[in-house]
Amino acid sequence: MTVLGIETSCDETSASVVRNGREVLSCVIHTQLEHKPFGGVVPEIASRCHIEALPGIVSEAVKNSGLNWDSIDAIAATRGPGLASSLLVGWSMAKGLAMSLGCPLLAVNHIEAHLHSVFLEPSAPEPADAVPMLGLVVSGGHTSLFKIEEYGKIQLIGKTVDDAAGEALDKAAKLLDLGYPGGPVIDKLARLKTPNRRVFPEGRIRDATMTDGLDPSLCFSFSGLKTSLLHHIKDNPPSSEDDIAQLAADYQEAVMQALVKRCEKALEDSRYLAVGGGVSLNSRLRTLLAELCERRNVELLLASPRNCGDNAAMIAGLASMGRGVSSPESFTLDVAPSWPVGV
Ligand code: KG4
Ligand code: ZN
Repeated sequence: MTVLGIETSCDETSASVVRNGREVLSCVIHTQLEHKPFGGVVPEIASRCHIEALPGIVSEAVKNSGLNWDSIDAIAATRGPGLASSLLVGWSMAKGLAMSLGCPLLAVNHIEAHLHSVFLEPSAPEPADAVPMLGLVVSGGHTSLFKIEEYGKIQLIGKTVDDAAGEALDKAAKLLDLGYPGGPVIDKLARLKTPNRRVFPEGRIRDATMTDGLDPSLCFSFSGLKTSLLHHIKDNPPSSEDDIAQLAADYQEAVMQALVKRCEKALEDSRYLAVGGGVSLNSRLRTLLAELCERRNVELLLASPRNCGDNAAMIAGLASMGRGVSSPESFTLDVAPSWPVGV
């Protein structure tokens, strides 16, 4: 099965052709730089940029795959979660393409697709064999933990009650005047220093009702961390690049330790740990996860750097595995900006 996938949930415009769920024939990703001056994604700018870029990106993805339109068996697109106005651009284009080609239309969940990104690596096991698995999706918009006992049966077991981990890094970078997005620059600066774990607190869930019935010890809270950085800067303004690098290392450590600690607690009898999303690029997180998996004799599944952030290969790939909503029902669907996984 050869699927053309489209991803426009946030500020990446992407199209990809994937064969049989795992063989990426092409993947074109355009990251919108128009948001940089604003220090975050501006929804209206994002959707307008998708409208301009998407037709060219789709044509390029088909051309780069070496196939022609006749070889495309189905069209898939992200239906949610994400920014409504951004999702509408990709979802509408996918509907139009599927109608004109007379092929099935598949609605895919963006978070579940981040977990599928680890299976785009040729060395990864078959998805059906990689169970029981713990999944962590960690990006600028999401921080969630999942248990997968059987392929396709995904249970949410933990989530952030406020900011996502990537958002916490982006906000810290803004406070430290390091530009947007913050994750990559904090990662780079932090590598220059040895982190001190005691400087910033681990976010704690103060109100158990915020977790919607999930175990609070598997949930995350990052908004207090950002506030503590704000106070820290007020009390001890960094006076050199060295000070800023140390702050970056200490702050990053608090974020990454919070992620790894929850993973360790949730692993139980899991044989695999899959981690997807933009923050999974972080070098400190990768080191800590590798150490954890070594200790617990668990296989760590990470996506290659080009598939960690938002991309359409994970959308086309997941759709070819038969996941998502198919036609004729999909043709009647609107986008779902808060679409939960597994529903
Ligand atoms: O998955 P993604 O491309 O988009 C969302 O769905 O949000 O993730 C973007 C996030 C941003 O918050 C960015 O700062 C973070 O991923 N990020 C990183 C690194 N590279 C990107 N965070 C930590 N370390 C990195 N090397
Ligand atoms: Zn994402």
